[in-house]
Amino acid sequence: MNTKIILSEEQIPRQWYNIIPDMPGPLHPVISPRTLQPAKPEEMLAIFPPAILQQEMSTERWIDIPDEVRDIYRLWRPSPLYRARRLEQALQTPAKIYYKYEGVSPAGSHKPNSAIPQAWYNKQAGIRRLATETGAGQWGSSLALACSMFGLECTVYMVKVSCQQKPYRKSMMELWGARVNPSPSEFTNAGRTILAHDPECQGSLGIAISEAVEDAATHADTNYALGSVLNHVCLHQTVIGLEAKEQFKVAGDYPDVVIACCGGGSNFAGLAFPFIADRAAGRKVRAMAVEPASCPTLTKGVYAFDYGDTAKMAPIAMMYTLGHDFMPPGIHAGGLRYHGESPLVSQLYHAGEIEAKSYKQNACFEGAILFSRSEGIVPAPESSHAVRAAIDEAMLAKEEGKERTILFGLSGHGQLDMGAYDAYLSGNLEDYEYPEAKIREALERLPKICL
Ligand SMILES: Cc1ncc(COP(=O)(O)O)c(C=O)c1O
Repeated sequence: MNTKIILSEEQIPRQWYNIIPDMPGPLHPVISPRTLQPAKPEEMLAIFPPAILQQEMSTERWIDIPDEVRDIYRLWRPSPLYRARRLEQALQTPAKIYYKYEGVSPAGSHKPNSAIPQAWYNKQAGIRRLATETGAGQWGSSLALACSMFGLECTVYMVKVSCQQKPYRKSMMELWGARVNPSPSEFTNAGRTILAHDPECQGSLGIAISEAVEDAATHADTNYALGSVLNHVCLHQTVIGLEAKEQFKVAGDYPDVVIACCGGGSNFAGLAFPFIADRAAGRKVRAMAVEPASCPTLTKGVYAFDYGDTAKMAPIAMMYTLGHDFMPPGIHAGGLRYHGESPLVSQLYHAGEIEAKSYKQNACFEGAILFSRSEGIVPAPESSHAVRAAIDEAMLAKEEGKERTILFGLSGHGQLDMGAYDAYLSGNLEDYEYPEAKIREALERLPKICL
């Protein structure tokens, strides 16, 4: 059997899979941060184009991918599905391990799968500039790429600690023509307020979102684009799982468990939702979201209405949260440092439809290095969480002496994350304890919603 299963460009999906009609119950309304009542479409139209808003609430199971988007997807899609035989051998496991590799995109992760359609729909709506935030720099570079493809300007608020850890991500965004502001910045009220209280603030995804939303809301020619969390982003990412299902048909196999790391949830959703859909036809596939122990949104958070950002400018959603002003420790998986979680992923977790697990960063890097030494590819620190969980599933299969087919998402490569690997290899990578007191404190400030 081949090591890589590769589909033709003709097999790039023509439609995204929308899980909304297949959810275990009705969706909770999105709440306006101004009125604390269900948000009116006009409020959302100030920062999103109509086509994106339509997708956000659509109950159509299948949504067409525009030809212009598919044409750009052709640059790297379909992405390969690998059988990790060398890792299996290293682990001496009876389990079969497969991984879907999204690091082949120009930006090096799954993020362009949504950046391209978001830029396209905004261009169609006559928007001139997009504002966004970025944690690890993966989303910012993906949106910079997408904007350069469609001739849009792009402003990225990049979490300050990530700017320092990953200067070349910033260079990449600038190469694709974006303007990058380390966040918190002096360019917005949200940034200035935070800096007035804490001039040394290292930033967080929640703060950077506040800055980008404010930028979009205060400029008529500018919209906002979010790299995860929202329903339309999860929708766009389903190309990953849809392709993987076709690739499993070629392999004559099917996963018992699908594993993906989970920041805001779109990566997990993209890989897992199309498999979860198969349960209706009797498939017993498990789905596991993996997160950092220092930012344990699903495993230690509460299911409640909360703001999407620190400055309370972004809409309020029902989700697992650690509190909108929780400041996670500066771990190297910057893309997993978000206080909240996709409402769709949250609802599935609450209903017991998916599992979640958390790991400390040293355990993840240990897994990533074992993976690199057998499979070659250097995983992004975010993806290393999925690698770790897949290795543990394979070891469990060995202990139990059972066969098992494992699929995990290798959401990106880590070639611009070598500082993190250096820290691990020199024994200087800190493991943070679960910040219980900080989370308890942040949870006291959840908004009180009476509907
Ligand atoms: C490589 C990589 N994997 C996974 C994630 C988490 O993605 P999501 O927010 O879609 O869960 C990120 C976020 O930046 C990332 O860069």
